[in-house]
Amino acid sequence: MSRKSIYTQAVHAGERRPRPDYTPVSTPIYPSVGYLYEDMTDLDGVFGGERAGYVYPRYGSPTVSALEEAIATLEGAEDAVAYASGMGAVHGALMGAGVRAGTAVVAAADLYGATYALLERTFGSLGVKVRFVDITNLAQVSQAVADKQPVVVLCEIVSNPLMKVADVPALAEVAHKSGAALIVDSTFATPYLFRPLEVGADYALHSATKYLGGHGDVMAGVVACSAERGHDLRERQKLLGANLGPQEAWLTLRGLKTLPLRMVQHCANAQAVAEWLSDQPGVARVNYPGLPDHPQHELAARLFGGVGFGGMLSFDLAGAGQAEVFRFMEALELVLPATTLGDVYSLTLYPAHSSHRQVGAEVRADLGIGDGLVRLSVGIEDAGDIIADLEQALEILRE
Ligand SMILES: Cc1ncc(COP(=O)(O)O)c(C=O)c1O
Repeated sequence: MSRKSIYTQAVHAGERRPRPDYTPVSTPIYPSVGYLYEDMTDLDGVFGGERAGYVYPRYGSPTVSALEEAIATLEGAEDAVAYASGMGAVHGALMGAGVRAGTAVVAAADLYGATYALLERTFGSLGVKVRFVDITNLAQVSQAVADKQPVVVLCEIVSNPLMKVADVPALAEVAHKSGAALIVDSTFATPYLFRPLEVGADYALHSATKYLGGHGDVMAGVVACSAERGHDLRERQKLLGANLGPQEAWLTLRGLKTLPLRMVQHCANAQAVAEWLSDQPGVARVNYPGLPDHPQHELAARLFGGVGFGGMLSFDLAGAGQAEVFRFMEALELVLPATTLGDVYSLTLYPAHSSHRQVGAEVRADLGIGDGLVRLSVGIEDAGDIIADLEQALEILRE
């Protein structure tokens, strides 16, 4: 063939090298949007699902598949599907579980604010009826399920920001008795502490932006479930398009490798910080499942197999309102006031103006999210350094 023009060379040179006969130890990032096959019959087979392969990233791609396989393995699931964010995963699971106009959902009242708003506003405006309940009150949940006959019961394993722990095995029983699916947002627990599918949940989802990624540098979401449900989620994903990119999949996969190591340190640090905060006169209340006075302490110990209680806690600054909380957060030097959680860094957040801003003051007050409540995502730094930082900030508040 004659030498091609530089315009053609620039586009094609170096591409489509023959498939190697070696296997990279670590999964490469595959950004390609298209895939070539030996002949058109092969491509037709991939499109038809008769042979393995990729055709277009909205239908699946190699780096994302590697992450999905890893998540499924860690969750003890037949399948897992990745999304562009945790909210994409929540949306995907709700659709997959059958939420449509005219159906009902029974959901925990103290969900992450955007999940609450997604149910109430987006799905609500499409004709979905939502009943919010105290998910720790099984009699109330059973009554709501009997009244509403929902297609879905939705909870967070540890609620945000009050750290209530959901009795997932009992909720699965209540949901399944009336034919509803149970979706568990397991973001705060991670598969290190808890695997919802093993005790009856139908979907376990994560904002992988948090502990799974773990380093504050990637936004992603995942849903783990049965093979049948996973197939259905993928078919929807082709149309909804909330797909994860290969770079993000690679970063999440990389983060996963140290998840157990990080969780050991998150749990130990959070326990130490929670116990220390409980003794401080400037702190009115500490919400952490690892404290013996937490209402679901024994349940958490049972569900998490005694290996720890997670890295998240919240506490009320005694007699404080927004001004005092802001002063406290600004006084912190090591602990960062960043709007996320589950990172290697220790992070604080003021739920009333961020994660729960969208739910409104009245609902916040009903939920017990007071104006003095601070959420703390305890990082993997030295526990003594974290406590020293909190101590000096509490001291400044007393001045
Ligand atoms: C428990 C929980 N679920 C879901 C989400 C949404 O995840 P993302 O921000 O990755 O969309 C968050 C975000 O903070 C969360 O805390």
